[in-house]
Amino acid sequence: MANSDQIKALIKSHFDKDGNRFKTIALQLAASEARNGHGNLANDIKKLIESGSKTLIRKIPNKKNLSDLMQWVEPETRLSQLVASDELKNRIERILKEYKQKSKLSKYGMTNRRKVLLAGPPGTGKTFTASIIANELDLPIYVILIDKIVTKYMGETAAKLRMVFDFIESNKGVYLFDEFDAIGTERARDNEVGEMRRVLNAFLQFLEQDQSNSFILAATNNIGLLDTALFRRFDDTLFYNLPSKEEAFELIKNKLINFKYGFKIENISLDSFVGLSHAEISLACEDAVKDMILSGKKQVQKKAFISMLQNRQEIYKRK
Ligand SMILES: Nc1ncnc2c1ncn2[C@@H]1O[C@H](COP(=O)(O)OP(=O)(O)OP(=O)(O)O)[C@@H](O)[C@H]1O
Ligand SMILES: [Mg+2]
Repeated sequence: MANSDQIKALIKSHFDKDGNRFKTIALQLAASEARNGHGNLANDIKKLIESGSKTLIRKIPNKKNLSDLMQWVEPETRLSQLVASDELKNRIERILKEYKQKSKLSKYGMTNRRKVLLAGPPGTGKTFTASIIANELDLPIYVILIDKIVTKYMGETAAKLRMVFDFIESNKGVYLFDEFDAIGTERARDNEVGEMRRVLNAFLQFLEQDQSNSFILAATNNIGLLDTALFRRFDDTLFYNLPSKEEAFELIKNKLINFKYGFKIENISLDSFVGLSHAEISLACEDAVKDMILSGKKQVQKKAFISMLQNRQEIYKRK
């Protein structure tokens, strides 16, 4: 039987519109049912979760070929789940606040921040932030597939960009140009320099002309590569970093909140997670939980967790 805390947490996560947490608790329910010998019920719960959580690709209406260029994804996370510096959180809060009160701003001829560059190393929360903005503001989120937009032929690329920006204009939402470096790079390979510059100029023109109510977010791992002309076209730039010690502890606590663990998180040595991103620490937490489930233990084991973190660090040493 599900315990009362699990039921309460499940209901709370539904009303918080926190899809990730809902899924984690539901999976935990399935695991405890399986442990209690209710294998069929556990499987049924797992099947429901799987069928419900498939990333949906919503048909993008009325526009031929547009659905090849962008994907609709379901936003499923809240700002409270983001582990980041206060400064970064405040900046995201300001984006949300300006949107919610944009009519106030417009009375004074001002517009809300909505063209935002997200810069930082892989796995530190850039895509996560796009999802948070969409979920907090109840907007759909679309990811633009840049590799499908940029083709050998400039005319074709510009036509595709126009199609996307037309859609942005007529469908309010959050639009994420992920791996934006593909367009925004200053130093493309020699023979491509002229071509990429023209693509970039076309993008900048569309970005500048855009008067929509949508959010246009561009994410990059490599801000050093981006053309400086880009920065002033965005209303704001958010910088992401690898987690500090405190942030790593907070993240681990969040990830293990629904599980028992017989150790103090603050006692984990810094060496075990130095250099790891939020995404990698999250995955190591999940690995340690899986290890607990599969080895039939009741608590997440410190030794197993440390070794999962070290496995992730090893990947860097091999690079
Ligand atoms: N700051 C964070 N706080 C909490 N969880 C995070 C954070 N950053 C990443 N995660 C976890 O890692 C996953 C992957 O992160 P995300 O996709 O946002 O990384 P990214 O910065 O977009 O990386 P990339 O540059 O590779 O696209 C998230 O879905 C989330 O579970
Ligand atoms: Mg990303």
